[in-house]
Amino acid sequence: MSLGLPRLRLGVNIDHVATVRNARGGDHPDPVRAALIAAEAGADGITAHLREDRRHITDEDIARLRALLPPLNLEMAATTEMLRIALHHRPHAACIVPEHREERTTEGGLDAAGGHNRLAPFVAELRDVGIRVSLFIEPDPRQVDAAARLGAPVVEFHTGAYAHAEGEGRAAELRRLADAAALAAKNGLEPHAGHGLSFDNVAPVAAIPQLAELNIGHYLVGEAIFIGLGDAVGRMRALMDEARG
Ligand code: PXP
Repeated sequence: MSLGLPRLRLGVNIDHVATVRNARGGDHPDPVRAALIAAEAGADGITAHLREDRRHITDEDIARLRALLPPLNLEMAATTEMLRIALHHRPHAACIVPEHREERTTEGGLDAAGGHNRLAPFVAELRDVGIRVSLFIEPDPRQVDAAARLGAPVVEFHTGAYAHAEGEGRAAELRRLADAAALAAKNGLEPHAGHGLSFDNVAPVAAIPQLAELNIGHYLVGEAIFIGLGDAVGRMRALMDEARG
């Protein structure tokens, strides 16, 4: 049965191309080349996280990615340094993420509810210059309400708990995501999702009707080792499209 849902955008996160490059300190593999291949293969945008410790993407990468045609979604912590960089480069979108120095990856969502006063000026300054702001939050009704109060037009739901769960636990996480996406849309927010998505687990998430965009990185860059980045992105694109009917 065709669900006939609107096309879901795919943002390809190229951070881990830079991780491999940085392992040797040179300029290969180049995340900008990866971005161009991903766009050619069906990515609608490129996502990159400039971390405080610059462990993968660098300031120069951001400048080069910004000069490309595909829209750039800059993932950033709510710090004055990152705000200054975002205001300078004016990416199409900025996704505010929590960042802890010791974590391997972004381990949970932002506390948009508890952090209202701290986050509000960041959302306002980014919005004022026309950057589409999103908040990376858990699929939790309290966080959705808080994001709406902050005036961010977009929320991105952390799909890590869904991706790591199995069986009944995964079904419950999927329901949490679907409910949060419906609540976000009801509040006038555009819901996105990402983290830990793969060929095996993407379809049920892609079928959530209110979702407008998925951001996927680590799995695609890993899979690129075996089948090439263009084919990995193309296959993900096809799985998302099939899930939408
Ligand atoms: N969305 C956000 C906000 C993220 O921080 C990340 C991880 O950097 C992703 C999506 C992509 O997650 P993954 O690399 O696990 O696909």
